[in-house]
Amino acid sequence: MKRKVTKAIFPVAGMGTRFLPATKSVPKEIMTLVDRPLIQYAIDEARAAGIEDFIFVTSRGKSALEDYFDHAPDLEASLQASGKMALLDILNDTNMDSGAIAYMRQHKPLGLGHAVSCARKLIGDEPFAVILPDDVIAAEKPCLQQMVEAYQETGGAMVAAMEVAPERTSSYGVLDVAAGEGPVLSVKDMVEKPAPGTAPSNLAVIGRYILTPEVMRNLDEVERGAGGEIQLTDAIAQELQQGRDVFGYRFDGQRFDCGSKAGFLQATVAFALARDDLRDEFSAYLTEMQSLKQAAQ
Ligand code: G1P
Repeated sequence: MKRKVTKAIFPVAGMGTRFLPATKSVPKEIMTLVDRPLIQYAIDEARAAGIEDFIFVTSRGKSALEDYFDHAPDLEASLQASGKMALLDILNDTNMDSGAIAYMRQHKPLGLGHAVSCARKLIGDEPFAVILPDDVIAAEKPCLQQMVEAYQETGGAMVAAMEVAPERTSSYGVLDVAAGEGPVLSVKDMVEKPAPGTAPSNLAVIGRYILTPEVMRNLDEVERGAGGEIQLTDAIAQELQQGRDVFGYRFDGQRFDCGSKAGFLQATVAFALARDDLRDEFSAYLTEMQSLKQAAQ
């Protein structure tokens, strides 16, 4: 049995400029898919995977995130008084145990690798997960849970992987893998945001990671990489140079890139259609839109 993964880092320091003006005052992670903030999906996925300690790497202007995970005594009392128990349950589901959640500030936007390394003291000498809340993954068994189960067999470092269109590889960390069957892939090399035409494959890293304390140590030493930033991909690639195993995990599920407007809208539609209370009305609307579009053509 490998060591249990009980800590997860959520890098949430990004400014979310792609969603301005909304993100002028609302952290991107609080933006909602239907009625739940992006961060809630990430937390639920972490909980399902057995995570007990939640570490947020934040920056200026993210205090709404801290409030979101706090109790809301006035609201709770008012729902209680008016007997709105179902709403109270929804609210209670978002509460985190005191002591289960920690916030670290990333003082300068030096990249994902730097954000992760800001949590090094809280991680100590344990394996840990990283979840990028922009990558929302709809799956029967939550993606991180799939990975934690696979990790119990493999150990090492593990990154979620998915095939993307060849012209999109320059937006991702990209894996070079040994030939293999099944979801677990043995990684030979990985490169962050390869220049168009130079990617070793079209297998992209998606924002779920199980990492070793050695990766944390590598982060202290890696030089700035793609975009002049300290890249998590580079610190994981160093594991390979140091002779340790890195695995790609081809997860079951549908991933939405909620860091882009189109991806966010697609996720909104998919999550609305998955909801019993919205499906009929919403799909009727979509059908109507589609027929109006066809009629106009
Ligand atoms: C980050 C990682 C990249 C990964 C991607 C997944 O990039 O650096 O390796 O493929 O997340 O979403 P970003 O999207 O922050 O530029």
